[in-house]
Amino acid sequence: MKRKIGIIYSSIDGQTKKICEELNAHFKKEQIKSALFSIENFNDNLSEFDTLIIGASIRYGKHNKQVYDFILKNKEYLKEIKTAFFSVNLVARKENKNSPSTNPYLIKFIKEINWTPDLLEVFAGKLDYKSYSLLDRIMIKLIMRLTDGPTKSKEPIELTDWKKVNDFGIKISQNYKETKHITL
Ligand SMILES: Cc1cc2nc3c(=O)[nH]c(=O)nc-3n(C[C@H](O)[C@H](O)[C@H](O)COP(=O)(O)O)c2cc1C
Repeated sequence: MKRKIGIIYSSIDGQTKKICEELNAHFKKEQIKSALFSIENFNDNLSEFDTLIIGASIRYGKHNKQVYDFILKNKEYLKEIKTAFFSVNLVARKENKNSPSTNPYLIKFIKEINWTPDLLEVFAGKLDYKSYSLLDRIMIKLIMRLTDGPTKSKEPIELTDWKKVNDFGIKISQNYKETKHITL
C-alpha cells in the first residue's frame, strides 16, 4: 500500500467537487501526496491509498446511490485504512444542523451504511436558483420557505464555511503525518 490520500467526490452541481479541490490543494501545500476523482471515474484501485476521503452531496434527502455501492463494495478495505466522510447539503447552513451529530442526512446515512469512518463532517452547500430546472427550482423554493431560507436570488449563494473546510483538511493532514505507514 502506498502512502497517499485519495479523495473521491459525488457532486452534481460542483460544490462538493470544489470542496474536494480545496482539500487537495491543502494536501499539496503540505507536501502530502493526494489524488482527486469523481466517483464515476474512479478506477477502483484503492490499494494506492492509505487514507481515503469521500465527499457526497444531498439531493432530495439522499446521497448518490453510487456512494452507497462504493462503500458497501469496499467496506473491508476501508476498515483497514484511515477514512473520512463528509456530506454537503443546504440544511447544514443552520447552526443546529451543521455537525455530524446534528445533521439528519449524515446521521441517517451512517446508520444505513453501517460503516464508521474515522472522521465525519458536514458542510453547507450552494444555492443557485438560476441553474435549476423549473421543477427543481419550485421544490427548492418550497423547502427554503419551510425552513426559513432565501427563496429568491439572481446570484448564486455560497453557504459553505471555508474555514471549516480548511480545519477539516488540517485535521486530516496532521493525522496523516502522525500515522506511520500501514502494511496490509
Ligand atoms: C434538485 C436538488 C435537490 C436538493 N435537495 C436537497 C435536500 O433534500 N436537502 C438539502 O439540505 N439540500 C438539498 N439540495 C441542496 C444541495 O445539497 C446543495 O445545493 C449542494 O451544494 C449540492 O452539491 P453539489 O453541487 O456537489 O451537487 C438540493 C439541491 C438540488 C439542486
